[in-house]
Amino acid sequence: MYSEKVMDHFRNPRNVGEIKDADGIGEVGNPQCGDIMKMYLKIEDNVIVDVKFKTFGCGSAIASSSMATEMIKGKTIEEAMKVTNKAVTEALDGLPPVKMHCSVLAEQAIKAALLDYSKKNNVKIEGLEDFD
Ligand code: FES
Ligand code: FES
Repeated sequence: MYSEKVMDHFRNPRNVGEIKDADGIGEVGNPQCGDIMKMYLKIEDNVIVDVKFKTFGCGSAIASSSMATEMIKGKTIEEAMKVTNKAVTEALDGLPPVKMHCSVLAEQAIKAALLDYSKKNNVKIEGLEDFD
């Protein structure tokens, strides 16, 4: 039912924790199941130099957030904006259909953290205007 990559990221999630002096923090909840994900970003010169997450959710949510943090670490804000739940799911070699919504949480948490960063620093991020 679950790919090896999902099982790997579920058992050994990367970048778990929090960043005390984070530049952007995003917290999102999944209305379908009540799960919560928190994402912390450290941003220097438009680059995500560090990222950590905490997830109170199912295995797919943990695997999705773990994979998502790996996909945005060291990347520019513009590159991180392109990490969709579809991209995360593909990188995990797929999720069962009933678990697709869990990967949406990862994308939303990244965008919420970027929005927090953009508000605190008064920088405009292309594509984030509609997200609040
Ligand atoms: Fe909440 Fe998946 S339904 S953990
Ligand atoms: Fe709730 Fe996966 S995030 S079921």
